[in-house]
Amino acid sequence: MGGWGKELELWIDSGDIEEIKKAVELGAITGVTTNPTLIAKVGYTKDFREVVREICRIVDGPVSVEAVSLHADGIVEEARELVKLGDNVVIKIPVIPEGLKAMKRLSQEGIRVNATLVFSTNQALLAARAGAAYVSPFIGRLDDIGHNGMQVVRDAAQIFRSYNMPTRVIAASIRHPLHVIEAAKAGAHVATIPYRVIEQMVKHPLTDIGLERFLADWQKVVKQEAVKCP
Ligand code: G3P
Repeated sequence: MGGWGKELELWIDSGDIEEIKKAVELGAITGVTTNPTLIAKVGYTKDFREVVREICRIVDGPVSVEAVSLHADGIVEEARELVKLGDNVVIKIPVIPEGLKAMKRLSQEGIRVNATLVFSTNQALLAARAGAAYVSPFIGRLDDIGHNGMQVVRDAAQIFRSYNMPTRVIAASIRHPLHVIEAAKAGAHVATIPYRVIEQMVKHPLTDIGLERFLADWQKVVKQEAVKCP
């Protein structure tokens, strides 16, 4: 591995403000990825721009927000508006020909891009060369169709590191805690994780049993002290 980008970040993959707050409070989550589906799922009555502004206030790190235009000009215009919602906004753009053109133009303007809907290492490579700051292989969706999603993460991370390319690999579409560990071992720079999976990562039955025992034993100590010091 090269001398840069060795750190691994954990982000939350969610459009739900309450989930994002709870995750960021844990102290381990430093960024957010959203997509139209995740934001629509919450059923907000307020405008999505207000939602994005609020998310950007909750977390200091990058907040990925998706552009939905299908033409480069439209994507670029949308991106210029979206970055006004917060200093930490990163624009998610799908790897399609028009998306690649937009990535190039936006990166030249200094707007950070997260290439999304990445399902192959070739797509990751094209996006990186077009100036994307991040590429997001969707590992769960690849696994769902019988492919090896993690291999795209591994290959892209290896190529970027061996050529000293600044693009960072985000393991996205994570389905379970083992995906996070596998992504870390595969060299991902970031794992973006649904809140449900973050909860699963925290939880261990032996921690709960151990804590219960410690507390029960501590009660015995406290009682003895209470007797000694009336
Ligand atoms: O970050 C990408 C993610 O939101 C897609 O996840 O579960 O819809 O495949 P999923």
